[in-house]
Amino acid sequence: MKNLNKHIFLIGMMGSGKSSVGKILARDICSAFIDLDQEIINRSGKSIETIFNEEGEEIFRKLETETAFDLNMNEPSVVATGGGFPLNETNLTWMRELGKIVWLKSSSEIILKRIEHENRPLLPRPIKKEHIDSILNSRISVYKQADLFIDTDRYDPEQIAKEIEDKLI
Ligand code: S3P
Repeated sequence: MKNLNKHIFLIGMMGSGKSSVGKILARDICSAFIDLDQEIINRSGKSIETIFNEEGEEIFRKLETETAFDLNMNEPSVVATGGGFPLNETNLTWMRELGKIVWLKSSSEIILKRIEHENRPLLPRPIKKEHIDSILNSRISVYKQADLFIDTDRYDPEQIAKEIEDKLI
């Protein structure tokens, strides 16, 4: 079995499969798995939706960075980040310094199918493809700074995890 000697950060839009792929990848290579959104929930005792509603996006973004920077990164880990995390240059630099960044690239059509029945703070219901398109377009130049891009539309999380393992580990 291959061993991880650096951290792997999964970035990409909500609904692109970062948490599912991250869990499988970490299981397959016996590394730790960290879900940044879940860490924020644990730390604040509030859901992501509640943080957005009660405190707003700016506070959420601060909390997101603080939570990440306080993580115990002593052992090589697979980290699933929130969709907006790499937009902050400081966060992007932090990930680059600590490991490799993988963009799970999904089309708006597939993202819509995956999240249309969920509550997403940045996407008022009913969730529209055009709205996902506009968020995705505004972020593409940042996501493209990843070390590796994986097209997720036609593959299941097991296959995507395997591809990351083959290409990066
Ligand atoms: C966000 C994505 C969410 C969560 C928050 C903001 C974003 O995480 O951090 O709702 O800005 O795209 P996931 O990408 O894990 O769904």
